[in-house]
Amino acid sequence: MQLREHTWTLQGDRIVLRPLTEGDWDILLKWNNDPEVLYFAEGDDVESRDLEQIRNIYRGISQNAFCFIIEFENTAIGECWLQEMNLECILEKYPGKDCRRIDLIIGEKRLWGQGLGTDVIRTLTRFGFEHERSDVIFGIDIGDHNPRSLKAFQKAGYRIITKIEEPSGRKAKFSYDVAITREEAV
Ligand SMILES: CC(C)(COP(=O)(O)OP(=O)(O)OC[C@H]1O[C@@H](n2cnc3c(N)ncnc32)[C@H](O)[C@@H]1OP(=O)(O)O)[C@@H](O)C(=O)NCCC(=O)NCCS
Repeated sequence: MQLREHTWTLQGDRIVLRPLTEGDWDILLKWNNDPEVLYFAEGDDVESRDLEQIRNIYRGISQNAFCFIIEFENTAIGECWLQEMNLECILEKYPGKDCRRIDLIIGEKRLWGQGLGTDVIRTLTRFGFEHERSDVIFGIDIGDHNPRSLKAFQKAGYRIITKIEEPSGRKAKFSYDVAITREEAV
């Protein structure tokens, strides 16, 4: 299976989102092997991923998602996607609605906390509502060990819809799902 590629380039305030391609494995491998990035990006204790795993993950996701590389000042700094909702527990609460989810990683850590993640979320959200005519977009499973992520979604207009207590021994005590509807985004 190859990546399902697309031709969208999205302009944010300071970032640009360009299509993820089969030429991007080296940067994805780097970011997905950085323990600090993985600490925040994953709920479980993932320590590393090999090229085969990386390809399988992104190729699989791309079948039902628009996958992008985040660029800042003409340099690739991370990845993100807008994906069809894949969780039954969410879909059954929103019958007949077009539900999507956003996931993102800024792999270049020196750029965390400078507003770029919020810019990415706003840009993908606008794309989802204006181009894809989505009804609701979600951020899923944001652990309370990752306040930067929760705050970035909230700054982009998302509100907490679920707070779940995590089993003991996990990094997060609680995790959150957040959402924004098309009406809220206007
Ligand atoms: C999550 C991520 C995408 C957010 O992007 P970002 O560019 O760092 O976030 P932003 O700068 O847009 O917004 C972060 C906000 O959190 C705030 N923040 C940072 N640390 C915080 C803390 N400990 N407690 C509360 N708020 C905090 C920042 O001050 C900022 O808010 P402000 O602009 O009002 O000051 C990025 O940090 C990242 O890629 N992290 C690693 C991977 C990851 O966690 N992915 C998401 C998995 S759910």
